[in-house]
Amino acid sequence: MAHAKAGASLPVPNVQVLAQTWHGSGEPVPGRYVRTEEMGAGEVVAGCAIPVVDLSRLLDPRSSEEELANLGSACQHWGFFQLMNHGVPDEVIQDVKRDMIEFFKLPLEAKKVHAQVPGGLEGYGQSFVFSETQKLDWADMIYLMISPKESRDLRFWPTRPPSFRDSVDRYSAETAKVTASLLRFMAADLGVEPEHLLEAFRGQPQSMRTTYYPPCRQAADVLGLSPHTDATGLALLLHVNDVQGLQIRRDGKWHTVDPLDGAFVVSIGDILEILSNGRYRSIEHRAVVHPDKERISAAMFHQPCPNTTVGPLPELVNRDSGGARYRSMDYMDFMKNFFASKLDGRRSHMDAMRIY
Ligand code: OGA
Ligand code: NI
Repeated sequence: MAHAKAGASLPVPNVQVLAQTWHGSGEPVPGRYVRTEEMGAGEVVAGCAIPVVDLSRLLDPRSSEEELANLGSACQHWGFFQLMNHGVPDEVIQDVKRDMIEFFKLPLEAKKVHAQVPGGLEGYGQSFVFSETQKLDWADMIYLMISPKESRDLRFWPTRPPSFRDSVDRYSAETAKVTASLLRFMAADLGVEPEHLLEAFRGQPQSMRTTYYPPCRQAADVLGLSPHTDATGLALLLHVNDVQGLQIRRDGKWHTVDPLDGAFVVSIGDILEILSNGRYRSIEHRAVVHPDKERISAAMFHQPCPNTTVGPLPELVNRDSGGARYRSMDYMDFMKNFFASKLDGRRSHMDAMRIY
């Protein structure tokens, strides 16, 4: 999501307000949200056991080797895993969850103080709306640049509840530590110098999308978040309230993910797929909504810095008989392609990167 101004969305109605007024109306869900065909198209398999990685076992010399194999297998074969014992203090997580929940409870006018502005990506609103006719997701979101600190635009940072900014700040520092640690273990699994992998994420840029999915009594006819891969390095997804809705695509089917209490759901993004020369895979995922419960999730994205060239790590290219499987490109250009491809299909921005 980050950086490329090209991705700015057109303004659309606020879904939280729409849901509130529509719910008691007896009317069918407005046409722009109807995705019945898409929702009915693929088989949905319940209770997907995505791999569980234990960071404390990675850090413990007695279990590190075994857990590293587990991490490597998760990144190569799943592109998604749950991370437990990640070491982020419970207080930091509880505070950020509470403040996100409080923010979405505010009246619309108070949230709109931080609304997206024309041409921009950050703030409260919706993402990926590029045409007046496209189908819409059943959700509102607030997107913020978090790190480095100079990238923060405080116009978009909520001041209510008053602790919001501080909670996000502490959460950001903790998730950055977890991510740096994971990247080091991923480098070990890939057999590359940790600094070579970390170099792509110099200064550890972060951005965060917190999404509010209102309940929908026609939940089977709408989509909370359209299928996508994360155009980032690594995303740490926090289930802010205890309502699940995430589905990942595997073997052509959609699998629902049941988040473990206290764990992060980690997604391998497109950039890690490219850096790893295809050893790791970024996986398509989407979010569905609940008929009578609201759902809130927060994705902390860890991406390269704006003027980094992203391409397969030379150490891996030299080792792979087929050479580079992806082109190298400036990260900003990659993001421009990503947004352009949203207009015509889901993974075409990655197809443009692949070398056959
Ligand atoms: C995302 C995302 C999933 C969810 O924000 O990129 O995939 O469950 N979110 O909200
Ligand atoms: Ni995602």
